[in-house]
Amino acid sequence: MKRLFTITITLVSVGLLSASVGAQTAFYDAEKAVTYRQNALNVMYHNFKTMGDMIKGDVPFESEIFAERANDFAAMTVIPWAGFQVDGAMPGNDTDALPEIWQNWDDFKQNFEKLQSDANNLKQLANAGASRAELGQAVKTTSENCKGCHDNYRAD
Ligand code: HEC
Repeated sequence: MKRLFTITITLVSVGLLSASVGAQTAFYDAEKAVTYRQNALNVMYHNFKTMGDMIKGDVPFESEIFAERANDFAAMTVIPWAGFQVDGAMPGNDTDALPEIWQNWDDFKQNFEKLQSDANNLKQLANAGASRAELGQAVKTTSENCKGCHDNYRAD
């Protein structure tokens, strides 16, 4: 009991158990939702860019590191989209998201689902030790999702 009490106090002191718990996270607060999705997109980007740099030869190609990045990239392609589904997380001063996203949600969703399936394919190839040429092709295919969605749904 004493231990439970100590845990509760700790949670309260770091703000996790306050009365307005919902309003403080990205899933209930529009502004935080925008930050959340942008942060997730950046983590996704860094993993993807590293693979692209390895394919181009800008950094040494190391298949183990490539596979790690492919795993994390595939995981990250799932994350950002919840940040687009929070009430009020619409275009404002701090976002490049266009209103068309919410007008064409099904199409937007198809775009990120295609990204996820291409990312999973890339991950499988990387973990199966595919050649650099094969991986390069999969990176290229995957990158078309980025451009396609940004052209329609992201401000320049
Ligand atoms: C389903 C649509 C979609 C796909 C697919 C997509 N993006 Fe984006 N991306 C967006 C939107 C919309 C924004 C603007 C988000 C905002 O500012 O709220 C964005 C913003 C970004 C940002 C900037 C985040 C910031 O700090 O403001 C990066 C980096 C990014 N995307 C990388 C990528 C990469 C790399 C890929 C492909 C591997 C990709 N995106 C695929 C829709 C997409």
